[in-house]
Amino acid sequence: MPDTPIILGIESSCDDTAAAVVVGGELRANVVSSQDVHGDYGGVVPELASRDHQRLIVPVVAQALNEASIAREDLDAIAVTYGPGLAGSLLVGLSFAKAYALGLGIPLVGINHLEGHIYSVFIEGRPAFPYLCLVVSGGHTQLVHVDDGFALALLGQTRDDAAGEAFDKVAKLLDLGYPGGPTIDRLAQQGDPDFHRFPRTRPDPDGYEFSFSGLKTSVLYYLNAFSEEERIHFLDDHLADLCASFQQAIIDVLVDALRRGVRETGVKDVAVVGGVSANTGLRAAAEALVEEEGITLHLPPLKYCMDNAAMIAVTAHYKLAAGRTSPLSLTAQPSLALG
Ligand code: KG4
Ligand code: ZN
Repeated sequence: MPDTPIILGIESSCDDTAAAVVVGGELRANVVSSQDVHGDYGGVVPELASRDHQRLIVPVVAQALNEASIAREDLDAIAVTYGPGLAGSLLVGLSFAKAYALGLGIPLVGINHLEGHIYSVFIEGRPAFPYLCLVVSGGHTQLVHVDDGFALALLGQTRDDAAGEAFDKVAKLLDLGYPGGPTIDRLAQQGDPDFHRFPRTRPDPDGYEFSFSGLKTSVLYYLNAFSEEERIHFLDDHLADLCASFQQAIIDVLVDALRRGVRETGVKDVAVVGGVSANTGLRAAAEALVEEEGITLHLPPLKYCMDNAAMIAVTAHYKLAAGRTSPLSLTAQPSLALG
């Protein structure tokens, strides 16, 4: 393997069809085609997602290679997300990647999507090991201790809904479309986070477990207390306040866990990654920890928070350097855990 391997990364675990090229760990192209077929349904429809991946994967890969000025034959390895995610969606990317690896006679590097998010801070930065990583996405909320050599230790995770899922479900209650996180984020910036105090649930106050399904129910009960007409007036006046109050409850719980994690482990580098790490309020609250706790904070640039293939290709760069490749018999693993 050359010192500066050229790697094509592919990500298709949910509703984004993405391809990226890294050369020696440096990103050369990053193409994400977010599917717009799900908006009318208020969430991702698995069957539509896999069909759209099939339609998009060839042009998305072609565009990434083209933008990187790399010919297929120049590639040294193919990296692909093999889980967790939607089975049909994962299969499209994985089958494509295997065919490429087989056809070109180059190694396949299977990447865990969660590891991709965890190492997304390496696309443009270099955290010192060990670092504490808060993974907050549509499917996961986890606090992970990350050490060199891909040594990942899960400190805690959500018992029910993920943080992003809570954003999406509350957005649905408020008729704000899918995905809801970005819209709630935008509205919350004009609202008062102290307008209403929603519960900050900590299932094990001394540990690092999360629970967000009760919060969503609290918002539902809060809205159900109004008559239809009152509710319309209330939302006319206070939609932004409601979004800010709900968002603050999530941020408080996440940042509290992060702060305790820093104090208890003594780790000095902290990362917040995944779709919800794009949240303006969460980024500001994490920034506040820098002064408060004397940590170095690593936040992915916004374009690498949501699902992308740059994080898959960069993670593969380090896996490959450690001599880790995958057999062509690799299968899609929808419930793949960390580790
Ligand atoms: O990492 P990601 O793209 O996909 C998964 O692996 O799940 O995360 C998507 C999630 C969605 O739930 C979306 O609503 C949320 O990230 N999200 C946000 C923001 N941008 C995306 N949540 C809060 N604030 C945002 N600005
Ligand atoms: Zn993700």
